[in-house]
Amino acid sequence: MKITIVTIFPQLINSFTNNRIFQRALENNIIDLNIVNLRDFSNNKHKSVDDYGFGGGVGMVLKPESFFDFFKKSGAKNIIFPSPQGVKLNNEIAKELSSKNELTFICGHYEGIDERVVEKYVDLEVSIGDYVVSGGELPTMVILDSIIRFIPQFIKKESAEIESFEAGKLDFGVYTRPETIDNLKVPSVLTSGNHSMINQYRKRDSLLRTLIKRPDLISKLPKEDKQFIKNIVKDIL
Ligand code: ADE
Repeated sequence: MKITIVTIFPQLINSFTNNRIFQRALENNIIDLNIVNLRDFSNNKHKSVDDYGFGGGVGMVLKPESFFDFFKKSGAKNIIFPSPQGVKLNNEIAKELSSKNELTFICGHYEGIDERVVEKYVDLEVSIGDYVVSGGELPTMVILDSIIRFIPQFIKKESAEIESFEAGKLDFGVYTRPETIDNLKVPSVLTSGNHSMINQYRKRDSLLRTLIKRPDLISKLPKEDKQFIKNIVKDIL
């Protein structure tokens, strides 16, 4: 997948991509990352890319020319604009976007990007939640991270599939050594070596955690899971 990120802070993106899994994906050509400094497309000698907003009352706005120039020259496709006004990111959206062979993110700053860029070029506005962060780079990284998990070969398929939400329920709890710390013990079933009991325990733990932490997800679970929860509750009462 070709990924292009258009930003005025290219160094912010490096902090995200400087890890082993991402680097391996780059080396193996699973992803091709292209970080574009918007200033390189500025049409003035100071390389400025922002200006005062028309109409007053707003701060600086990213000017349209550099974006237009970049889009015309690059022919970039599938333009995503991270914005609090977009569709709220979820696993389905991430999975759908992971099937594209090219994605382009444009990062806003200050008061935003000139609306004509959005009108003419943006295919999808995506929000990472009902709050505002100060630039598009962090949301881009969040959206991208959620997408690349679904690219075959990027991470082990099973690990993407057993993660929270993929099956509509939360993850089971995980533990590592030591078996005891401050009198807190790892559930004994996990050290028993009995895989069918471990699977049963994990299914129960996952459903119980969903019931306690995200009861809003329960109604969408398959019948079998709902029945399992009923049985757990019956046992507890
Ligand atoms: N840019 C600023 N806030 C954002 C949000 N909540 N989601 C996506 N992009 C943003």
